[in-house]
Amino acid sequence: MLLNKVIITLIINSVLAENNNSKYENKEETILEENIYASSRPCKEFCGTPKRNSRDIRGRPKSQFLEAMLQTPMLQTYANEPDIFSILRDNYDLPKGNTEQWPLCHPLTTGERRGKFLKGLKPLIRCHAGFNGPLVEYDFIVVGAGSAGSVLASRLSARRKATVLLLEAGVGESILTGVPILAPLFQRTDYVWPYFMERQPGVCMGMENERCFWPRGKAVGGTSVVNYMIYARGLPEDWDRIAAAGNYGWSYREVLPYYMKSESATLKGQSKSPWHGRDGELTVEDVPFRSKLSKAFLDGVKFLGHRIVDYNSPDGFGFNYIQATINRGVRMSSAKAFLHKHKNRKTLHILPNSRVTKVLIDPITKTAYGVEFQRNGQVYKIRAKKEVILSAGPIESPHLLMLSGVGPRSQLESFEIPVIQDLPVGQTLYDHISFPALAYTLNTTRLTIATRNVGLIQTGVQLTQFGDGPLTSLAGVETIGYLKTNVSDEVGDYPDIELIGSCASMATDEGQLVSKGLRIADWLYNDVYKPLEKVESFTILMMLLHPKSKGYMKLKSKNPFEQPALYGNYLQHPKDVATMIASIRYINKLVETPSFQKYGAKLHKKKFPNCKQYKFDSDNYWECAIRTVTSTLHHQISTCRMGPITDPHAVVDPELRVYGVRNLRVIDSSVIPKTIAAHTNAPAIMIGEKGADMIKNTWGLI
Ligand SMILES: Cc1cc2nc3c(=O)[nH]c(=O)nc-3n(C[C@H](O)[C@H](O)[C@H](O)COP(=O)(O)OP(=O)(O)OC[C@H]3O[C@@H](n4cnc5c(N)ncnc54)[C@H](O)[C@@H]3O)c2cc1C
Ligand SMILES: *[C@@H]1O[C@H](CO)[C@@H](O)[C@H](O)[C@H]1NC(C)=O
Ligand SMILES: *[C@@H]1O[C@H](CO)[C@@H](O)[C@H](O)[C@H]1NC(C)=O
Ligand SMILES: *[C@@H]1O[C@H](CO)[C@@H](O)[C@H](O)[C@H]1NC(C)=O
Repeated sequence: MLLNKVIITLIINSVLAENNNSKYENKEETILEENIYASSRPCKEFCGTPKRNSRDIRGRPKSQFLEAMLQTPMLQTYANEPDIFSILRDNYDLPKGNTEQWPLCHPLTTGERRGKFLKGLKPLIRCHAGFNGPLVEYDFIVVGAGSAGSVLASRLSARRKATVLLLEAGVGESILTGVPILAPLFQRTDYVWPYFMERQPGVCMGMENERCFWPRGKAVGGTSVVNYMIYARGLPEDWDRIAAAGNYGWSYREVLPYYMKSESATLKGQSKSPWHGRDGELTVEDVPFRSKLSKAFLDGVKFLGHRIVDYNSPDGFGFNYIQATINRGVRMSSAKAFLHKHKNRKTLHILPNSRVTKVLIDPITKTAYGVEFQRNGQVYKIRAKKEVILSAGPIESPHLLMLSGVGPRSQLESFEIPVIQDLPVGQTLYDHISFPALAYTLNTTRLTIATRNVGLIQTGVQLTQFGDGPLTSLAGVETIGYLKTNVSDEVGDYPDIELIGSCASMATDEGQLVSKGLRIADWLYNDVYKPLEKVESFTILMMLLHPKSKGYMKLKSKNPFEQPALYGNYLQHPKDVATMIASIRYINKLVETPSFQKYGAKLHKKKFPNCKQYKFDSDNYWECAIRTVTSTLHHQISTCRMGPITDPHAVVDPELRVYGVRNLRVIDSSVIPKTIAAHTNAPAIMIGEKGADMIKNTWGLI
């Protein structure tokens, strides 16, 4: 199996990689005065000591080997300059001075308390000493070290103007999360919050238990540690519409500099482009691996009259290769980009494994003054002198607001949560859905990333030594572009669909990664895709950019460890169904073009067993099909919607301050008020950048 081969290759390489210990250099030690440590108490009510889940989602035992690998932090080597082994290294410290994370961080191995006879040995691993927990007070507390939280904490703590505590429920990245082709794998591990949407009739009928799966990243780096690494910003029209709705400061012209600020682009043909940043921390690159199918895709769309453009420029209505948040073929998470270099920064404390359960808000003055969180069975209350910022993502940010008394009054009252501010938290929820279930067969071999084409030791060497080869593939996705279907009622060049070309199908990995990540039910996989395992096949998927259906979420309990009830309301508006069907027809037309036909590409016509009553290729058949595999692309937004004071659906103002509560902001993807033609990682990072500037302005920290 592919995974085993990758793991074995990485292990072989990591053994070969000898740590050059003389590179260790403890430049800066965290300065901490011991007398201001916060005290904690053991947890008594709603304690989240996670039960180790030794069974996977289908009730089968999890692979012990895989779990052990995933729990293993990176070798704590010091790798400033990427070298041939930098793939193996994640010099992110977990956390500063913490010696409990890893058994090897023992005073003996770290050389802190070694007897004379060990004095001469260099430490094998780098563990800090002297830091025993959070302080009682910081200027800012940022909840969630995800795409937005990582950059926000890094900017706020820069230049030593303010102190920042960054609290993260998850742990650090591992070696494996860096390997792009494995992206779908992590949806089955503790690197995600395994949320499920409530069961809604007529969607996700072919998923396990007929429920849509909504994994969110749980790691230092957040969802950027488990995502597909597609870099997309949205079109000018998207942001201009947001600004036109009264969100001052959010027009395309105003957000573009923030995208470019974080970016360090090395894209072929774009070296002179005025639309890409080069001095930022977030590397944006072409995917080194390209299958022949990616060229067929671009030739095909050209044949149908589309333009080849930089889809991240203002003139983005067209197609091209995907731009990816990777660095020499390895995942560039938000943590790697924005936190790594600052692990010793004296004004930034990063605490993984710390689950915030409540924002502390004074009910009289309606002022946020701190947070409560749990860590290793202990409860801490830490004060924020200036602000508390929720960057916990589109599900946990609104969840935390509601647990803290900010949300719809009747809902909070039904759980006996004292209401501090009545706001429509969680009442708007948009998402991007897809249908990744089309499969096209080929009469030519070695065009796809089929397991038999990939899982060779050689490919591991290609990745670790040269940063290329099929392991750098974003699990197959290669090309991207915008389309306006013939059912759109928009005026002008405003797309309603995004197409994503892939050199893999559900069957390409023999059912190991993608279909399991999507929670496709066995009855569907075995009937439709298993027969394809021995032939070459690929898919082209779409993203419904501007669904008319709108979802919501609500509290299920006042226990912070119980997930809220999530309702996507997918495909409830007939227009959404029509647009999805129109895009399927378009994709079939694209595959009929000569560039795909020279490889004998053919639609796999096996009917879904639950849609047998419909004629294949009829509208009814496709509607049944998209209701069977209703796959989210994980862009839930708007749950803490931004809007002007006149907007009855708004939770935060255009400066991301929670209405009616002082010193509390939400800065992450949950504030995006409307759907945008983008995947939401880059927008979340942009929001983190912009939010940091807003806060610095407020407190005169510029
Ligand atoms: C499988 C998958 C694939 C995706 N692919 C792409 C892609 O290719 N391109 C793209 O642009 N986008 C992609 N996305 C979406 C994108 O990654 C996310 O929208 C984006 O990362 C969200 O950023 P955020 O800062 O809002 O939240 P997150 O990055 O999710 O950060 C929230 C953080 O807060 C932490 N947290 C939550 N609650 C608490 C708490 N109570 N206490 C402490 N910490 C807490 C979480 O653990 C997490 O680390 C994908 C998402 C998924 C799930
Ligand atoms: C280790 O690093 C030091 C300084 O960076 C260098 O002088 C030395 O040659 C390196 N040793 C090996 C074995 O690479
Ligand atoms: C859109 O195109 C398809 C064929 O590709 C056609 O069957 C359908 O009637 C068209 N719809 C509209 C509204 O033009
Ligand atoms: C694949 O099919 C195409 C079109 O039918 C044909 O031109 C080509 O020769 C075929 N290739 C092989 C290897 O059979």
